[in-house]
Parts: sequence; C-alpha cells; structure tokens
Amino acid sequence: MSIPTGLKAEESRKTLTRLFAPIQAGLADADRIFQEELQSRFPFVQALVEHCGDYQGKRLRPALVLLAGGASGGIVHAHPVLAAVVEMIHTATLVHDDVLDESMVRRHAATVNAEWGNESAVMLGDYLFSHAYHLAASLESTLACRWIGKATHEVCEGEMQQIHHRGNLDLDEVSYFQIIAGKTAALTAVSSRLGAHYAGADAAVVDAMEAYGYHVGMAFQIADDVLDIWGDERATGKSLGTDLEKQKLTLPLIRLLEIGEPSVVELTRRLLTEARAESRRRLQPLLEESGALDYAWSRARWHVDQAIATLDVVGPSEFKDVLAEMAGYVVRRSA
Ligand code: IPE
Ligand code: IPE
Ligand code: MG
Ligand code: MG
Repeated sequence: MSIPTGLKAEESRKTLTRLFAPIQAGLADADRIFQEELQSRFPFVQALVEHCGDYQGKRLRPALVLLAGGASGGIVHAHPVLAAVVEMIHTATLVHDDVLDESMVRRHAATVNAEWGNESAVMLGDYLFSHAYHLAASLESTLACRWIGKATHEVCEGEMQQIHHRGNLDLDEVSYFQIIAGKTAALTAVSSRLGAHYAGADAAVVDAMEAYGYHVGMAFQIADDVLDIWGDERATGKSLGTDLEKQKLTLPLIRLLEIGEPSVVELTRRLLTEARAESRRRLQPLLEESGALDYAWSRARWHVDQAIATLDVVGPSEFKDVLAEMAGYVVRRSA
C-alpha cells in the first residue's frame, strides 16, 4: 500500500503554485508584512525570526484569508495584513508544537527547538503571538483581534486537550474531533471568516465562509494524521510518527480499536503502549486491512464535500473556483 494521498511531492507543490496564482500579489504583500513586523534590532532574535521566514510553509491560512476575500467582495488593504497575522499565529503554534512533540525537522529544516533549544523556541512562539496581535491592532476595528484571540485560545485548548489525552487508548471519536476542531480548524475557520468580513460581505456569507474554513481544517488535520503514519518525511519536510511516539491517538487508530478483531485490538494496544519506532510500520497493515484507514479517509472526504457545498452562497469567481479545488487539495497533498 502506498501513501494514501494522491499527489507526489512535486505535484503537490506545483498544484499550490497554480492555485495561488490569483492571489500572488496579496501573498507577496503578506510575506513582506510578516518579515517587517517581526524585525528585531538584536541579531540573535533576528536570526530566529529569519529562520521562520526563510523556511516558508504552504501558506494555506494566508491564502484562505485572501481567497475568501476575493470570493466575497474583493481584496482590500486589510487582507494582506490579516494574512500575515494568521500566518504568525500559525507559525507560533508550530514552534510550540515542535517543543511538545520533540520534533527535529520542520519545513525541511531543523526545528527551532532542535537548533536553539526549548527555551528559545518557547520565547520565539510568544514573540510571534504578541506580534500577531500588535499587527492586528493596526487595523481600524478591534474585531480582528477579538476573533483571532478566540480562535487562538481554541487552538491552545485543543493542544492542551491532546496533551491531557496522551496515552489514553480509549479516546473516542467525538473527543478526537473536538481536539482537531480546536487545534487546527479554529484557525482555518477564522481565516476565511476574516477574509469575507473584510471584503464587506453580509453576515450569511461571513458565516458560510467560516464554515468552509472549519471543514477544510478538519479535512486537513485528518489527512495530516494519516500522513503522520503513512507519509514520507522527505516529502512533508517534517518529523513524522510523533503522534504514535507521544501516544496521541488519531482517527485511523481510534477506529481500529473500536472495530478491530479482539486479537488485532490487543496487538494494536501493545504496539501503542510500546510506542517504538517500528510501531508505525507494524500498525500500517492492521489499519489498512481492517478498513480503519478507509474510514478515516471517508470522514476527511465528508468534510471536503461540506466545505465545497458552503461555497454555494457566493457567486462565480476565479477565487471561488480555487477555494473549491483547495478543499480537495488538502486531502490529496503529500506535504
Ligand atoms: C501543519 O500545518 C500543522 C497542522 C495544523 C497539522 P501546515 O501543514 O499548514 O504547515 P506549513 O505551514 O505548511 O508548514
Ligand atoms: C499540531 O498538530 C497542530 C497545531 C495546531 C500546531 P500536529 O502535531 O499533527 O502538527 P504537525 O504534524 O507537527 O505539523
Ligand atoms: Mg506536531
Ligand atoms: Mg501531524
């Protein structure tokens, strides 16, 4: 069985470049604002900041702000600013997440904790969070700060709940969905909500765009959790297998423990408790043969379909087309 996502690493990257063509200028502005806002007069701090800028990620959340803006009335000055804000929040959560997961590689480079240690990583994360609010407060209304503040505390709640459930082999699906709704979908939901609001859309469109971002985030994280077990570190450019190492149960495993034959369930529980490096390879066939992987995939696809359906609320545009395609992309990506 190959990696269950459809696209090869190169195709995955090219797809994003093509999808982001209509928002290229906005993304470039957001990148510039991101770097300018974070500048420090202290070379050590500047080196940490530049590390985040040099090794860019996929920029999905800034893209959501811009695309939702374009699809809901048009991109204005606030959009690239907010795009930079959500990427700052996202980067902060990754820098902290890599401390929690003891990950060594992120975006094809050493993690901040691997290169500079946990203390610097914790403070860099805080530096990014506080700058994000500083930047958001440069907009006329306080609405963005409030909405982003709410989303960020939901992200932290999700991560804390995940820590709380580490080693809980009885974690149920509902709790898993609550965790990923917080740690991932809250930020994607607020990204598309902000995009629509700052484009001047009415409340129904703003709510629909938020729902779109929520479903994309849910599908995205289920796919990420599948990639943690089946993905290729060279393609993702980040440490994989950390969910298993840290005994964080994700959807395929929750499903297997629920529906598997008693002997398979027993073996699975043992492999999870041992949490050894080879557990990943040994769990893969169990997850595949039991249908647990297919099940996780079907749940991800359900969210993709929901995301696409919410787009009915806006009229035709190239941005809308990209949003529809992006919903499918998040479960087909290999990075
Ligand atoms: C990784 O997000 C963190 C999760 C929510 C799973 P991305 O895969 O969007 O990370 P980058 O920004 O592209 O590096
Ligand atoms: C963390 O989830 C998502 C965040 C909100 C930071 P993961 O731990 O699965 O993210 P990766 O796999 O390290 O990118
Ligand atoms: Mg992680
Ligand atoms: Mg992951």
